[in-house]
Amino acid sequence: MAKKPKFQHPTGMHDILPEDQAYYKKIYGVTQDIAQFYGFSKIDTPIVEDAELYERGTGSATDIVEKQMFSLKTKGGDHLALRPEFTPGIVRSYNEHGMFNIPQPVKLYTFGPLFRYEHPQAGRFRQFHQVDFEVFGEQSPAIDAQVIQIFYNLLRELKFSHLIIEVNSIGDASCRPYYKKVLVNYLRPRQNSLCADCRRRIKENPLRVLDCKEEKCQRVKTQAPQILDHLCEPCKTHFTSLLEFLDEADLPYHLDPYLVRGLDYYTKTVFEIFTETPAGEKDGEEVVQRSALVGGGRYDGLVKLLGGKEVSATGAAAGVERIISLMKAKGFPPAEIPTPKVFLAQLGDMPKKKSLKLLEELRHAKISIAESLGRDSLRTQLARADKLAVEFTLILGQREVLDGTIVIRRMDTGEQQVVKMDKVIDELKKRLKK
Ligand code: HAM
Repeated sequence: MAKKPKFQHPTGMHDILPEDQAYYKKIYGVTQDIAQFYGFSKIDTPIVEDAELYERGTGSATDIVEKQMFSLKTKGGDHLALRPEFTPGIVRSYNEHGMFNIPQPVKLYTFGPLFRYEHPQAGRFRQFHQVDFEVFGEQSPAIDAQVIQIFYNLLRELKFSHLIIEVNSIGDASCRPYYKKVLVNYLRPRQNSLCADCRRRIKENPLRVLDCKEEKCQRVKTQAPQILDHLCEPCKTHFTSLLEFLDEADLPYHLDPYLVRGLDYYTKTVFEIFTETPAGEKDGEEVVQRSALVGGGRYDGLVKLLGGKEVSATGAAAGVERIISLMKAKGFPPAEIPTPKVFLAQLGDMPKKKSLKLLEELRHAKISIAESLGRDSLRTQLARADKLAVEFTLILGQREVLDGTIVIRRMDTGEQQVVKMDKVIDELKKRLKK
């Protein structure tokens, strides 16, 4: 077996090789089209931020901050973190640039890499990418519905079907504290049936118990009191109205009264979009694997919490690698990467020198062209042209250079024509149009 090179990619982080770029291009292309249609502007924030931004924003008792943050001390003593999610950084930018002074809503989108120190497994990486949309300055549940619709459309556009939208409301500062008490009263007598993490969560973050994937905790969850029974009037109205908007938009949703999401900033609406894929059989029954492609919700308190004004906000993010792995498994098409239709073959010193100039002229004329400038033999160059399946090969030899001509060879018939060098672009354009 060949020896592995000394240096390997860091655990949970991957190269995006040329053959995978077409998938990213497709997802980002669809994202840009959708963003333009719905009036979102692009924003890019730094890959590192003050670690405290996430401690306060994402929440110090969340898994993301407690267990998954890559943080570092700079030489100057600043405590920074690689961004584990986009939302706090975008809120920081909204506040810092006084975006509350411009007409609201402010609609922003972005995509790029994020970092979470996870236990690497299928669909869970330490460096991954998200597509993220955020809306500031709108209280209406219509906007929550629109964010859901945007991500639903994005996935539909990529050819996904059978998408499941799970929605819930987790209330706000006026109704959630009471529900937390009710939940803790239910969980405490059952704490011996919970995992060690959840026993700790009862004190620190009881809602997170509802989100635990451990089977024994799931069992406890099934009988737990539901927040929907404890919402205050404004939260109840918001939620009912959200469901009406989703119905009107024909978005196929399920109500999951135990969906809480793993980040601290949400108020009222939370949602996730899943797909289900067959994952073999267990005890004669078909098992399906659920994969969360999108997660989001409303976060009316975060802008203020991070030092800004009282501004409502809502948004969501999709996991790009999860989408790509399903696109591959389901055979959905990536973006088409245009391939050259013409190849330039050259024979001898002088033609090789002339080739560089000719390539520039072709580039200006927007004719994409492949070449093997490092090769000398015509046979090798024609073999390469064949492999690339180009329609035409230009052949430039010593004689052609002296005569001011060039040969155009049609690759399917092998038919060759000599044309004037200063007419080659027009001649090629004519032939490529046919
Ligand atoms: P999140 O649920 O943590 O939400 O992440 C959103 C999506 O990112 C997930 O549904 C999943 O597809 C993908 N994802 C998360 N972690 C990983 C990972 N380790 N490897 C691969 N994919 C992953 C947020 O990040 C919120 N900031 C969303 C939001 C925006 N809420 C409001 N605005």
